[in-house]
Amino acid sequence: MCGIVGYVGGRPALQIVLDGLRRLEYRGYDSAGIAVIDNSVILTEKKAGKLANLEKALVERAGDGISVGSTAIGHTRWATHGGPTDRNAHPHLSADGRVAVIHNGIIENFARLRAELEATSVEFVSDTDTECAAHLLAAEMRALREAGAGAGAEDGPQLLAEGMRRVVRRLEGAFTLLAVDVEVPDAVVAARRNSPLVVGRGDGENFLASDVSAFIEHTREAVELGQDQVVLITPAGIEITDFTGAPATGKEFHIDWDASAAEKGGYDYFMLKEIAEQPQAIADTLLGRLSERGEIVLDEVRLTDQDLRDVDKVFIVACGTSYHAGMVAKYAIEHWVRIPCEVELASEFRYRDPILDRSTLMIVISQSGETMDTLMALRHAKEQKARVLAICNTNGSTIPRESDAVLYTHGGPEIAVASTKAFVTQLVACYLIGLHLAQIRGVMYADEVAAVVSKLQATPDALRELLGGMEDVRALARDLRTASTILFIGRHVGFPVALEGALKLKELAYMHAEGFAAGELKHGPIALIDEGTPVVCVVPSPAGRGVLRDKVVSNIQEVRARGARTIVIAEEGDDAVRAYADHLIVVPRTPTLLAPLMTTVPLQILACEIAAARGHDVDQPRNLAKSVTVE
Ligand code: AGP
Repeated sequence: MCGIVGYVGGRPALQIVLDGLRRLEYRGYDSAGIAVIDNSVILTEKKAGKLANLEKALVERAGDGISVGSTAIGHTRWATHGGPTDRNAHPHLSADGRVAVIHNGIIENFARLRAELEATSVEFVSDTDTECAAHLLAAEMRALREAGAGAGAEDGPQLLAEGMRRVVRRLEGAFTLLAVDVEVPDAVVAARRNSPLVVGRGDGENFLASDVSAFIEHTREAVELGQDQVVLITPAGIEITDFTGAPATGKEFHIDWDASAAEKGGYDYFMLKEIAEQPQAIADTLLGRLSERGEIVLDEVRLTDQDLRDVDKVFIVACGTSYHAGMVAKYAIEHWVRIPCEVELASEFRYRDPILDRSTLMIVISQSGETMDTLMALRHAKEQKARVLAICNTNGSTIPRESDAVLYTHGGPEIAVASTKAFVTQLVACYLIGLHLAQIRGVMYADEVAAVVSKLQATPDALRELLGGMEDVRALARDLRTASTILFIGRHVGFPVALEGALKLKELAYMHAEGFAAGELKHGPIALIDEGTPVVCVVPSPAGRGVLRDKVVSNIQEVRARGARTIVIAEEGDDAVRAYADHLIVVPRTPTLLAPLMTTVPLQILACEIAAARGHDVDQPRNLAKSVTVE
């Protein structure tokens, strides 16, 4: 998830774009760059690291005349293709230096496009998918000009829009693209498919951005672009078409938030915003993972298929929420791959002298990629010659760098300390790895894998539907804010969900909370149940695993009989559970192994709202840090 800004108008474009990038820095901050058009040249500067590095470089260049310009584009990056380096930072220029492009998203067919361009002697200077778009746009602009289009200067912006339309018709995946052409100095063109883009309508000036926070100090009139639309901004106006060139319209709106609310997309907390982003984060993590032959494609896999066939045992090692994702993964991997899979807390792993060798696959899961406990466990495993595959959200961080293979989750930056979208994208990554292992080891056929993938692909829409109906959960949270303890129970993949629900509540609401395997209640924890004790019960789907679901229902009856107030999370259509629920939270139907993608989400909202009702700092709970770099 990157931040994108574009400006055209009569004011100093460089400063306006830099200010916009500062407001968007929360979206991505592993590198930043700008391109400014002035005096018939495109000036660019880009730097790895935070925006401050770019600003410093611009100050150092002030002497050599980096211009303020009147047309500029800028980008803060959250790396997907290619590590976070100066070279891979955006903008990317065409080989002739006449076109500059910035991009948010993933171009799925970039490998094919790159090979095609290289065959025409185009030399690539970065590892990004974005660079393809710059070379393609330059080629289209040349072709249009050679064909005689745009002979008059007034046609220049139209030419640029047509060039962009031709390019995007060739792209697959998700993208917001912004481009400038040195020969069209007063225009910025943009295109949108499955990635955000809004236009800010000014007076004699116009803006483009990933979200309104980038331009809210200049205008409150905005237009949200629809899917598959191209927009051309000039000082005189805004023109929208679809990808074929047919006139189109966006959704006009007035922004009534202030600047700080805008950064959070109008949400009160980053956590709520990140919860809402989960459907998109799942969709982005699935993007580009299926080859044209229906096989799962992983990134940066420095392991051969034979290495993966030789694996006789899997260890999953992680901390906190990432550990809970690993617990879910165990069920999926053992079921699909039929090899033993152990899940370990990273902080415990190396102290118990685990038995590892060349045929052990260790999967480490870390949102930040910097968690010291996980890193030390990884190093221990490597010393024992185990092969390590990382699931990580932060491109270029230490854990993926030291691993033999990496599957990046494309969740975008997670700002709130409490992990939400990282968790669901880690689950998706675990499912993909399980399916990949099953496929190359020949225990699942391609059509069986495709059937699970298509269920996964349906989850973003199901989750959107679920998120649309959370009012009752919010009301329940307000009601529970004075509870002294809340217990969570579940079985099978519902057990890690129960643990995750309890962890969220502890870290945000500072309340006593415990998660239990529902079957363990009778071995001790049931003594905790008192009159009115809230117990959240995660009920498995009755479809396919009826026995499991019936067992959880019996556990619900056990706690009710002892006075518990039951909050039941069950699949739609499971009407029989109503009789046992003081509060029922209905989630969309999902296959059992994938159900945590749904059942965890109401628990995130519950914890967030209880914490807010208790007056706590939701995004930065006490005593915690987003990235724990000490053992
Ligand atoms: C959960 O909400 C936490 N922020 C925490 O448990 C976190 O998942 C854990 O510290 C691991 O972090 P990592 O994924 O960055 O390695």
